[in-house]
Amino acid sequence: MSSQYQNIVTSVPLISDDFDLRHLPADFYQNPYPYYHALREQTPVRKMPDGSYLLTRYADLVHVYKDARTFSSDKKLEFKPRYGDTLLYEHHTNSLVFNDPPLHTRVRRLIMGGLTPAAMADTEPGLIKLVDGLLDQMENKNEVDLISDFASAIPVEIIGNLLAVPHDEREPLREWSLAILGALEPAITPEFFAYANQCVAEFLDYLKQLVAQRRLHPGDPKTDMLTRLIEGEANGEKLTETELLQNCVFLLNAGHETTTNLIGNGLVALQEWPEQKARLIAQPEMINTAIEEFLRFESSNQLGNRMTTVDTQIGDINIVAGSRISLCIGAANRDPLQFPDPDKLDISRSPNRHLAFASGIHQCAGMFLARLEGRVAISRLLARFPDYELSAAPVRGGRARFRGFLSVPCKL
Ligand code: HEM
Repeated sequence: MSSQYQNIVTSVPLISDDFDLRHLPADFYQNPYPYYHALREQTPVRKMPDGSYLLTRYADLVHVYKDARTFSSDKKLEFKPRYGDTLLYEHHTNSLVFNDPPLHTRVRRLIMGGLTPAAMADTEPGLIKLVDGLLDQMENKNEVDLISDFASAIPVEIIGNLLAVPHDEREPLREWSLAILGALEPAITPEFFAYANQCVAEFLDYLKQLVAQRRLHPGDPKTDMLTRLIEGEANGEKLTETELLQNCVFLLNAGHETTTNLIGNGLVALQEWPEQKARLIAQPEMINTAIEEFLRFESSNQLGNRMTTVDTQIGDINIVAGSRISLCIGAANRDPLQFPDPDKLDISRSPNRHLAFASGIHQCAGMFLARLEGRVAISRLLARFPDYELSAAPVRGGRARFRGFLSVPCKL
C-alpha cells in the first residue's frame, strides 16, 4: 500500500461503516492518504459516529472557509463538554483562531501588523545566522536527529524573538506548546488532559510576569509583538487581561510544531524522492515552489473544525444548524480534481493553491514567517549537506491533526 516512509498511495481501502476519527486504524498514522482517497471517493461528506461530518473534497473545504457566518469557528459550545470548566477551556475559547468576529477581528488586526512580509524580511538575517549555527554544531556529530538538532530548534527561537522572550527562559515553550495543542487531538487520555491543563497554568504564570515586565519597559511595537498587543489595549482595540494572555499563549504555540513539521516533513520527503532532491540541489532557486509542495504534500496541520450556525447543504447532504464539521486539509491537498497526480511530489508544481494555511478570514497569520523559516532551513541544509541520508526509520508523532516526525536519525 505504501512506500518506505509511507507518503505514497498504491491502493484505496474500502471505508468501513464504523470509521471514526476518534478510533483510527493503526496504519492510519503512518499513511492516512489511502484512507483520505477512499473517503473522498466513497463518502466525501461523511457522517461520523458522533454525529459530526468529515469533509475531504478540496471544493467543499474552500466553500466552508469562504463562509465564516454559516461555518463558525467559535468553540465555546463544542469544547464545554470536552474540557469542562478548566484552563484548557479558557485558553482554547479565547484564542483568535477559535473565535468569530468581533473578537477575532480585534486580535487579528493587532497580530497581523507584526507579521507582514516586510516585518519578516527584517528577521531573515538573524534566522540565517541561527540556522548556520545549528548546521555548524551538527557538522561535528557522527549522527544527528533532524528534528531535535535542527527542525525544532528553529521555531522556538524565532517565536521567542517575536515576543522578545529572554533567551534563557525559552526552554519550556516547546513542551508547553506540544501539550496544549496536543489536547486538540480527536482522542486524548485523562492523564494527557491533566498534563495539558497543567501546562496552560504554567504558561500563564510565566506570561503574567513577562507582561508585567513589558508594561514597565515597553519594546518597539513595530518589532515586539507583545508590546503591540499591550499597546493595542490603549488604542481602543482593548483586549481583556485573559484575551491578552491567552492569545500570547496561542501565538507562541501556533508556530512551533507546525513549522518544525514543515521542515522535518520536507527533508524526509526529499529523501523519499531522490530525483526531486537532485533537482533542488541543482536548481536551488526552486526553493519557493518546493516549500509550497512540501506544505501541500504532507500538510503539518491535517484537520480544521467549524460548526454550522444555520441549516445548510454541502454537496447533496443536508446539514442542520449546530453540526460539527471536520475539514480534512490533508485530503483536500491530495484531491485529484485540484492537483494533477496528487500523490507525486513535484517541487515545480504550479499552480499550487494548497490549503495548508487554510483560507478565508482565519488563514494562517504566520504563513509568511513559516515559509521563510522553511525556505532558509531547507535550502541551507541542502547546500551544506547535500548527501544527508536517513540512518534509521524516522519516528512519526502519532497524531491525526498535526502530522510530523518525533525524530529523524540521519548521517550528514
Ligand atoms: C508550516 C507552518 C504552519 C502551518 C501549516 C499553519 C497552519 C495554520 C492553519 C491551517 C490555520 C487556520 C486554522 C483554522 O482556521 O482552522 C492557522 C491559523 C493561524 N496560524 Fe498558522 N500555521 C503555521 C505556522 C504559523 C506560525 C509560524 C505562526 C505565528 C507566528 C502562526 C500563527 C497563526 C495564527 C495567529 C492563526 C490564527 C489566524 C486566525 O484565526 O485569524 N502559524 N495556521
